Amino acid sequence: MSLRSIYQAVEADLGGVEELLLSVRSEGSAWLDEMVAYSLQSGGKRIRPALTLLAGKFYQYRLEGLLPMAAAIELMHTATLIHDDAIDKSAVRRAKSTVYCVWGEAKAILLGDFLFARAGGMATDTRSLAAVRLFTETLATISTGEVNQSFSAFNLEQTRTQYIERIARKTASLFALSTESGGLLGGAPPAQTRALRDYGYNLGIAFQITDDILDFTSNERQLGKPIGSDLMQGTLTLPSMMILERYPEDNPIKRLFENHAHLSELEVQSYVKQAREIINRSQIARDCRKAASEYSRNACNCLKTLPPGAIRGALEELCSFILARRK
Ligand code: IPE
Ligand code: IPE
Ligand code: MG
Ligand code: MG
Repeated sequence: MSLRSIYQAVEADLGGVEELLLSVRSEGSAWLDEMVAYSLQSGGKRIRPALTLLAGKFYQYRLEGLLPMAAAIELMHTATLIHDDAIDKSAVRRAKSTVYCVWGEAKAILLGDFLFARAGGMATDTRSLAAVRLFTETLATISTGEVNQSFSAFNLEQTRTQYIERIARKTASLFALSTESGGLLGGAPPAQTRALRDYGYNLGIAFQITDDILDFTSNERQLGKPIGSDLMQGTLTLPSMMILERYPEDNPIKRLFENHAHLSELEVQSYVKQAREIINRSQIARDCRKAASEYSRNACNCLKTLPPGAIRGALEELCSFILARRK
């Protein structure tokens, strides 16, 4: 199923989210406004704002709160990606040159900060203190995850539990915010808001495991962003952990991580290529997909207590979509 059909029930209001995004201005800098427009033009999948609207649609569909929340979440997401690309020195995102590539690191940091500020402002437009609280906590959680990832770079001694904890913070927390805030602003009973949060969390873990597989198995044209970048940053992900476990001798990741400070660009690329070849000729991608589908199944199970119908159907479809996604 396509995203378009999954989003169908909220499609018109996703248009409202786009309008809110395009209304973001600096009121003071034409340079900033140019970068803002560049980074907010559509191109992303808009999964998180769609989740907020869909979650709210189960209940009283109060757009005056849901629309600014959905836009605030997409703004926060965009800002984290702009910073992420600057950290990774990455040239391409959503099949376009990154802000980092066009304007450089300093401007990328500053633009990200600006978008976080505007995101916070939009979150307050919901007039829900509880939603604003969730929003700020999530931003702290994402930062924690990204900092932990950065400090764990090139460290071979990491467990799967640490990996799940890291991706829970950096990715699943924002999915959980998307669905929980939709329930909250729609006036869902607390137990259902909790179920929506758990759904978002599990979906987010499955989404990031899939992203980590695609970083090995896809290509830049398909994905709209560079592949192999996790290993180049020294980030251990589920596929690379499995390579380490299953090929203890003569392991390209071990060599890369142990010697990264002294390697040429060409040597780094050669190790990354060797790791990709292992993935291509082993069962590792399949086993990672299995792990992702367990989280996706958990997500689906969280929906059981929610009202049946088209909205629940769309959220169920999303569980399969994120596993099969190619970008
Ligand atoms: C990218 O998220 C960052 C991750 C959590 C892997 P998306 O794949 O949702 O990015 P866009 O918004 O569609 O570009
Ligand atoms: C998600 O992880 C990044 C953030 C939460 C900001 P990735 O580093 O895997 O995202 P991509 O692959 O660059 O989109
Ligand atoms: Mg990245
Ligand atoms: Mg990635």
